[in-house]
Amino acid sequence: MVLAIKESAGKKPLIELYQSVRRRTMEIVAPLEVEDYVIQTAEFMSPPRWHIGHTSWFFETVLQAHQPGYQVYSDDFLFYFNSYYEGFGARIERPKRGTKSRPTVKATVAYRNHIDEQMVRFIERTDDLTVHSLVRLGLEHEMQHQELLVYDIKHLLCDQFDVTTAAKPVSVATVEGMAEIEGGLMKLGYGLDGPLYQSDGRPSHSKEFAFDNEKPEHQVFIQDFAIDRAPVTNGDYLEFIRDGGYKNFHWWFSEGWETVNREQWQAPLYWEFHDGQWMIRDFNGLQSVSERKYEPVCHVSFFEASAFAKWAGKRLPTEAEWEKAASYDARGSKHSFPWGDDTPELTHANLFENGLWTVAPVGAYPDGASAYGCHQMIGDVWEWTTSDYVPYPGFKSEFDEYNDKWFVNQKVLRGGSFATPQLHIRSTYRNFFHAHERWMTSGFRCAR
Ligand SMILES: [Fe+2]
Repeated sequence: MVLAIKESAGKKPLIELYQSVRRRTMEIVAPLEVEDYVIQTAEFMSPPRWHIGHTSWFFETVLQAHQPGYQVYSDDFLFYFNSYYEGFGARIERPKRGTKSRPTVKATVAYRNHIDEQMVRFIERTDDLTVHSLVRLGLEHEMQHQELLVYDIKHLLCDQFDVTTAAKPVSVATVEGMAEIEGGLMKLGYGLDGPLYQSDGRPSHSKEFAFDNEKPEHQVFIQDFAIDRAPVTNGDYLEFIRDGGYKNFHWWFSEGWETVNREQWQAPLYWEFHDGQWMIRDFNGLQSVSERKYEPVCHVSFFEASAFAKWAGKRLPTEAEWEKAASYDARGSKHSFPWGDDTPELTHANLFENGLWTVAPVGAYPDGASAYGCHQMIGDVWEWTTSDYVPYPGFKSEFDEYNDKWFVNQKVLRGGSFATPQLHIRSTYRNFFHAHERWMTSGFRCAR
């Protein structure tokens, strides 16, 4: 049912990748106290204990299907750690993941260790490329959950979480205005154009794996357009708030206006009003918006992004426009990243490895700018587009229920965030959320 990679990179690199990805999940949760692991602070988040078990459950489904004679670890665990897969049997309802104290954290870690032992032995023994592909999918899945863990730990603890963060880089480039981009036919989606090896001779990681929802690459026509060279900042967004943005129906979609009123939204999530001024709370504590006015606005819904865009006399880009701005060079060649085809490094983009646990100011990553002069398209914040999350023409599902069953009522976001691992992102990556959601690291840039 799946064949995402045609050639296996070999068992040793796969085992090393397996171990490093699995290790990182446990590094993320390491500062938590045992009580933190089991609490669910909202229906949309999951307790950390559930993530570390669920990512192991995913690999157990590979063992069940492909390792002859594999004995299931525990039927109770299969029930508690299945997320939404009808094909893998009954499961606990998502909002109830925080209503159980069992399996305990200790039992969940023991399960995780058991699966790791089994998986490493299994990978060592098997040459089945379908299994190698499934392992890679399981690791990409785990990286998605690492990012979700960052969102969920922020919702759970925010600045009470005892994590060491790296110093924020300073802005070294002035990034203003919009890039004017010519329209015409373009290729949308993941293809194998461009070098398979990067300039230093290492394989280009972006050619090793892509999700089925990024394929097939196909032609689309776009009109000439302009797109912001930088993500919308906290300072820009504060002007919208000060201009009564949340009090004026004129800027909002009907559903957005209903949500503003029902939820009494007055600002992005994690913004707090203290002594007459707006403050932002994150892992580093509480800071005024004015101290962070040059940083991308984060934790806004599609409704808020769209309302701001209308207020600013602009609109959100389509995903094709976003991809054109992020991956084409002046000669019309397409690349995996705004800067070319080299694997992301710390100077290209603010991704998880940078260790900031927050956004960086606009202009902090000039090395990561696209040929059109757009900055920070990769990293910092996922960017909302107007595009509906639907299958590309010719889409073939590579794994039942992974991406294919979500093709309704969600919007596409592009570019990754400060919580996305370097290995996990590329310009064609399609993330998706509902229009009202904002607990993830979502921001935007405008188009015209
Ligand atoms: Fe999952």
